[in-house]
Amino acid sequence: MGKVWVVVGSQWGDEGKGKIIDILARDMDCIVRYQGGNNAGHTVIIDDQEFILHLIPSGVLHKGKQCVIGNGVVIDPEALFSEMEMLTKRGIDVDSNIKISYQSHIIFPYHKILDHVKEKYSGREKIGTTGRGIGPCYTDKIARCGIRAIDIVNEGVLYQKLKFNINEKNQVLQKIYNEPLLKFEEIFEKYLTYGRKIKKYLCDVTYLLSEAVANGKNILFEGAQGTFLDIDFGTYPFVTSSNSSAGGACTGSGIGPTKIDKVIGVAKAYTTRVGEGPFPTEFTEDMMAKVRSRGKEFGATTGRPRRCGWFDAVIVRYSALVNGLDSIAITKLDVLDTQENIRICTGYMYNGKVYEEYPSDIEILQNCQPLYEDHSGWQEDTTHITSYDELPLNARKYLRRLSELVKTPIAIITVGPERGQTIVSTGK
Ligand code: IMP
Repeated sequence: MGKVWVVVGSQWGDEGKGKIIDILARDMDCIVRYQGGNNAGHTVIIDDQEFILHLIPSGVLHKGKQCVIGNGVVIDPEALFSEMEMLTKRGIDVDSNIKISYQSHIIFPYHKILDHVKEKYSGREKIGTTGRGIGPCYTDKIARCGIRAIDIVNEGVLYQKLKFNINEKNQVLQKIYNEPLLKFEEIFEKYLTYGRKIKKYLCDVTYLLSEAVANGKNILFEGAQGTFLDIDFGTYPFVTSSNSSAGGACTGSGIGPTKIDKVIGVAKAYTTRVGEGPFPTEFTEDMMAKVRSRGKEFGATTGRPRRCGWFDAVIVRYSALVNGLDSIAITKLDVLDTQENIRICTGYMYNGKVYEEYPSDIEILQNCQPLYEDHSGWQEDTTHITSYDELPLNARKYLRRLSELVKTPIAIITVGPERGQTIVSTGK
């Protein structure tokens, strides 16, 4: 039996999954994206070269790996082909390695326009989306009027489905948002060209994966975003529009749940989030500026500054349940190297009541007081450390406490962006 593993974000995304996936991908034959689209940004640094991947699985950076985009992913063909071009220019072979599900949904220009206008007219209720058309594309999927990859390779089907959608979207754009009308012919021609280009990559991913499992291949599922951006379990409505938690790996690729044998959660040694929504442990100005600059906390997709805060054990503990985490990878420990005092949030106080379990009520999340435990920092440089036992005592104490609070063993710790700045935890 080969390995079938899932890697998920345990916070609000940007946990450093790209690097963990890159490390694990070495032993894998096949790397699969199962949800999200080019709203994601996975940063991987190899020998001083930085790669930011939005749509193509990070495994592509290893030679000869099969990279798969599952049905749960929404694809903007323009973004897909420009990413492929960028990788080819940098000497990475994409052409022979990439497979895309027939059933993945396609992002059209009206999805991006609707994403922008909805945000514009939402005022204070806005989500702070990446503006990539993700939500409107998933909306069409669920409303059963979406257009899939298999549809854009068939001229007749594309014509009929696009006609219906453009008629409908034009009504909405004109009558509700007072926006200019979309031109059918222009979009039709463009997407026919994309259809011709994408055709050779398309396949039935369910069969591809079941054959890989039968042949004992190692498969890694790469989650995008994080558990608290999951449409069901996140801080709704301040979430993305897909299931970024581990369950999404099955519905977003066609692999059966019994085939998965390990789920690894990735969490930063502190917390960040981009966009609007509750964030109980968010720092005040001074700490925010310090951690943002030490951790280079700017969005890989939109460049927006990330909001930063202390590690929140309530949410990561919930993430361990939702995802059935076997272990956790703690990233960016080195960002806390200069801290004299480090806090961990163990619960929330709201209206005189203590919450140790994640409250789904956004009202509580938005207005609670985090309850903190204080820990002495280690105030030593950890960026050169390669083994767990060499970590300063206070760093090991901090990690042990995180593991205890989230009720999950720590398997990996990272102390910098390079492949080599990675420690396998012994947990002592
Ligand atoms: P959307 O996915 O563009 O609709 O954005 C919805 C929310 O998810 C916004 O708060 C975004 O900032 C956030 N989001 C989407 N993708 C990512 C990601 O890859 N990392 C972090 N936040 C993300």
